[in-house]
Amino acid sequence: MKFAAYSLVAALVASTTAAFTTTGYFARPSTVLDARRPFISGNWKLNPQTRQEAVDLAKEISDAVTSDTPDADVALFVPYVFLETAMEAVDGKVQIGAEGVCPEMAGAFTGAVSASMLKSVGVSWALAGHSERRVIFGESDEYINGQCLKLIELGMSVMLCIGESELEYNQNLAGAVCAVQLKKGLAGISKDDMSRVVIAYEPVWAIGTGKVATPEIAESVHKKVRDILADIFDQETAEATRILYGGSVTPESVDELMAQPDIDGALVGGASLDAAKFGRIINFESV
Ligand code: 13P
Repeated sequence: MKFAAYSLVAALVASTTAAFTTTGYFARPSTVLDARRPFISGNWKLNPQTRQEAVDLAKEISDAVTSDTPDADVALFVPYVFLETAMEAVDGKVQIGAEGVCPEMAGAFTGAVSASMLKSVGVSWALAGHSERRVIFGESDEYINGQCLKLIELGMSVMLCIGESELEYNQNLAGAVCAVQLKKGLAGISKDDMSRVVIAYEPVWAIGTGKVATPEIAESVHKKVRDILADIFDQETAEATRILYGGSVTPESVDELMAQPDIDGALVGGASLDAAKFGRIINFESV
């Protein structure tokens, strides 16, 4: 059993006060595993279609965080226009993050949203490097690195997404692709900054396809990702960094994934739009 349940008060305080910190709020021994508090997150992408639907979904998801919920950080990455209403709807039980950020701070960048804009409305997290941003919107490793650096510079946190395509997977290049994306994405980030970075390994072939990586495949890449982090920083930093799995995570697959030693959480797309499904994922069971 990898994780234990907390009391309701502990879960609520932990998810509001200590969420996204690595120190935690309670008098627990400070160990490497403490730094890797499980992290269940949803990425709403271009959904839902109305403010009211966003409010209802956020409320239903926050209702799924109960006294029996495992000790975990829970977050939703939502479209910019829903950030503030989603924050109100979850009433501190779930963290609300942005799906992206512009590495520039101000100026002639039509349509962009800066890190300081996000910070000013109470957002402290953003995604960077999602494969849909890389492929559809052409975001380069350099641009993604700029996003990471800007968020860290402003005292915010970033979830850096990495992952190989199906062709690359078939060519046995998963580790190599992740190494490039990590090294380029994290350039200029210090060991200390890594306490505000979470990595999401999302094999492109598993995103939205229903083809979830088996726990064994996911674990083997997560282990590689941790080795790459040790190479970039050091073993201690690698052991303290949370690495989440993303790609068709469902209520049926979450428990076994979460049981893997190097899988510290999940970044969930489709199933995070269904409160019952995401609620079950938040309440993953130790196997
Ligand atoms: P799915 O869970 O729909 O496969 O999406 C995963 C994802 O892209 C999360 O960022």
